Amino acid sequence: MANSPAKKKVGVLISGRGSNMEALIEASNRPDCPYEITLVFSNIEDAQGLKTAEEAGIKTAFLDHRGHGGRAAYDQKVLAILQEAKLDIVVLAGYMRIVTPEFVSAWKGRMLNIHPALLPSFTGLDTHKRALESGVRWHGCTVHFVTSELDAGPIITQAAVPVYENDTEDSLAKRVLKEEHRIYAEALEDLAADRLILKDNRVFHKKG
Ligand code: GRF
Repeated sequence: MANSPAKKKVGVLISGRGSNMEALIEASNRPDCPYEITLVFSNIEDAQGLKTAEEAGIKTAFLDHRGHGGRAAYDQKVLAILQEAKLDIVVLAGYMRIVTPEFVSAWKGRMLNIHPALLPSFTGLDTHKRALESGVRWHGCTVHFVTSELDAGPIITQAAVPVYENDTEDSLAKRVLKEEHRIYAEALEDLAADRLILKDNRVFHKKG
């Protein structure tokens, strides 16, 4: 029997609840999944996602973002933690930090983010509130490679959901989140299985 390729080592960066991280952990439990999550890192000590990761038996790390004398110094320390863990891929999943260009270039083509809107619409925060206020009929989520421009890297995949007239921020967020969990696992699996080709600002999926 041919040996299957080694699973890619993935680190997930979170700041809070960690439901996307949980969806990725769940997907990684499939025996044929091309990645394993070997580290969950947070800048927030009591992030719920850190507890979930520990319960799942995954190594966790925490470093408070305050008191390092600036973003660059902090990111360098986080980089060292990630490098020490010998990761292949870094996944931002509700990591509420803007990362430095040095951080981005260390993981170029190997760092993903999920954004709760159909980019390039509604970059930044409060996406569900802004979607409702703008009256769009469709909203959704996007998985993209991380570049130094916020929420603007090459798009890997998106999912759209309808916006209903009786929607609240919460009901809309819930509908979007369900799709986030699905497309994030799919995109990470494609990256880990080397099925994505990045050319200029576009992502192509290998056939087969
Ligand atoms: C998600 O909506 C994600 O798209 C955004 O922050 C939220 C994090 O949720 N970046 P969770 O921590 O994954 O539950």
